[in-house]
Order: sequence, then C-alpha cells, then structure tokens
Amino acid sequence: MAKVRSARRISSFADSVFGEMTRLAKLHNAVNLSQGFPDFEAPQVIKDAACTAIQAEQNQYAPPYGTHALRDAIAADFTRRYGVPASADEQVTVCCGSTEAMMAVMLSCIDPGDEVIVFEPFYENYGPDAILAGAEPKYVRLRQPDWHFDPDELKRAFSNRTRAIVINSPNNPTGKVFTRDELQLIADLCQKWDVLAIADEIYERIVYAGHVHVPIASLPGMAERTVTIGGLSKTYSVTGWRIGWAISPAPLTGGIRKLHDYLTVAAPSPFHDAAVAALSLPDTFYTQLTADYQSKRDLMIDILERHGFAARRPGGAYYVMADVSRFGFASDSELTQHLVKDIGVATVPGSSFYVDPAGASPMVRFCFAKREETLHEADRRLARLSVTSQGAVDKA
Ligand SMILES: Cc1ncc(COP(=O)(O)O)c(C=O)c1O
Repeated sequence: MAKVRSARRISSFADSVFGEMTRLAKLHNAVNLSQGFPDFEAPQVIKDAACTAIQAEQNQYAPPYGTHALRDAIAADFTRRYGVPASADEQVTVCCGSTEAMMAVMLSCIDPGDEVIVFEPFYENYGPDAILAGAEPKYVRLRQPDWHFDPDELKRAFSNRTRAIVINSPNNPTGKVFTRDELQLIADLCQKWDVLAIADEIYERIVYAGHVHVPIASLPGMAERTVTIGGLSKTYSVTGWRIGWAISPAPLTGGIRKLHDYLTVAAPSPFHDAAVAALSLPDTFYTQLTADYQSKRDLMIDILERHGFAARRPGGAYYVMADVSRFGFASDSELTQHLVKDIGVATVPGSSFYVDPAGASPMVRFCFAKREETLHEADRRLARLSVTSQGAVDKA
C-alpha cells in the first residue's frame, strides 16, 4: 500500500456536516440555522477590550496556560457560582476553544485501549477525540421525547476498561439539561468504577426557566475526578475568538498543559484581556442573555409547530431537535437537502449526531442563536414547506 496517504486512525471520520451545510447555505442563499453560532453582535465592552489589547501590542504568544489574570478570573467565577474551589495556578488551562481543551484532556488522560462513554446523540467531536486518543467510544442513548437515559443501559456501559465519561449539559443537540438526580447516578458510577468525568459545560449560561445547571464537579466526591470544560464562544457570541478552558484536578493539570502546549502553544493573546472583561460582566448581562434566548427559543418552537414539525422546548443551549417523521421523506438528510436547496433554510440532519441512528426517529436540528428577523425570514420560507410537505406526505 502507498505510504503517501492519510493515516488509518482517521479512516472512520466523516466530513463535518456543519461545514457542508454552511457551504450549501451560501450557495443557495439560504437562512443558515445549521451551525451553532450567533448572527448578532458580541458585547461592545469585550470587543473594545480586544481592540485595546491589539493596539497595546499584545500580539505575541500568550503564556502557554493563559495569562494569570484570565486563569484567576475563570477560577474565581467557577468558585463563586458553584461553590467548587478552583486554583488558577494548579487547575486552569486556557486553550484554543473548548474544542482544543477536550482534545488535550482526552489525549493526556486516556490510554490506548481504554473505553470512553459518550451519550448519543452527541456533539460531533467526541467520537473522533476518543479515537485519536486510541480509545473506544461506547455510546449510551438519550431517548426521546425527553432525552432521558436508561440507568440500566448506562450501568452496563461501565466496566474495568472505562476510563472516562463525557457529559455535555446543557446538551447539544438535544437541549437537555441533566438533572441533579441523573448526574448523581453518573457520579456514583464514576466513583464505583474509578472513572474520570469530562464535563463539557460550554452552554452553562444558556439555561431556561424551570431548569438548573448543576456542574457534576459540584457533587460530593466529584471535584477530584472531573475536568470541567468551558469557554467564551457561546455565552459571549464570539465563536471565532477560540478561547476555552479546562478546570482539572491538580494531578491532571500538568499533562493537560503539556498536551495543550504541543498542540497549539497558546490561545490567541489579544483575547485573554477580552475574556477577563467578559468574565467581569455584571449579573444583569446573564439575566438578559437568558431572557433573550428564551424568547428566541419560544419563537423558534412557534415557527416549527406552525409548519408541522414536532418539537419539544429545550431546557438549555440554543438548538431544537424536531421530529420530521410526518413529512414522509426517505431520510432526515433528504429533507435537509430539500430544505436548503428548495426552501432556503439550512439545518442539520439529526442522524449526524449518531454513530448509528437506527431506532431514532428522523430529526432535524435547528439553531436559534439568530436575530429575530433571521428567524422571521426562516418562518416565511418554511411556509412553503407546508405545501411541499403535503406533496411529500401524499407521495409517501
Ligand atoms: C457541546 C459543544 N462543545 C464544544 C463546542 C465548541 O466550542 P468552542 O468554540 O469553545 O471550541 C460546541 C460548538 O458548537 C458545542 O456545541
């Protein structure tokens, strides 16, 4: 076999559906409700802080693990809000987005041959991250309509080979916010099997009335076996800045930092100061953020229901997974192609969040981190689907 070829370790990786959908959205001039980024402005004060840092010549490598000021702000914010002690020097590593933080954690905390439990449907990076670390992902289903997991299925997934479990709450793509009881069950299993919890809490600030974000690190006995991953992207509408972080038990921090240093050296330096400004925003910023997202969520649900989608109100994050069975398309991918090419709305097929979607209903994910006028435009376009879909239902 030729040696100038891609490595075997990436042979099972699919191309990103998100990038492809954004490409198709541009090609067909579609309203882009596919990829998870806002189409509205970031807060002025943090943009000013970034510009000031650039003008003040903060344009060279940042300290590899993040400036002390930023690591301090991250640790203090975590402790203030959740009561979990965190040390800037011993526990915080600033990375190029939570994406890189997850990779650095997996590569530094998991050995080849280990198993990593991942709830399915899942954010697309977790499977490849585990595989790059040489581990085998074990998937446990979140089940509709409320995206609960079966405790027995989860118990069966744990074994001596299990090294870590990934918990993403609030969850992409389902909008599920794990309850304290569910997290306690996971925590008990982590303690029983001596397993690391890797908590992707990037949507921790986008949680709707009736739901509460509980970091698994705050449960008794879990701080010493949890890495909590967070970042600026979602809360402050700056997905392009690439600032994220890992808060790890002290004994794991050295390894995470080493990996981070080899992967990327450091996160972009001008945004360190901007991140400190972001973490210093008053509580009113967050109250407004959730109120704004809650009204976008309600608008999105209203639009979807009027156009024949079956959708539950998510408890957190900024996505809706809508059941599309009634439209009668052969697959969710076929419907998303129709939506982007003929209707002018880009979405993501639910099946792309599964390794094997067998048994799950056909679904489509809508991202509602958009201006109201963007959502209204999607509404106008989806009105054409009702007519088209009737044809599809008739045909089916
Ligand atoms: C669950 C989840 N984790 C991580 C990320 C990526 O975050 P970042 O921009 O910090 O790399 C996303 C982005 O969509 C996400 O949905």
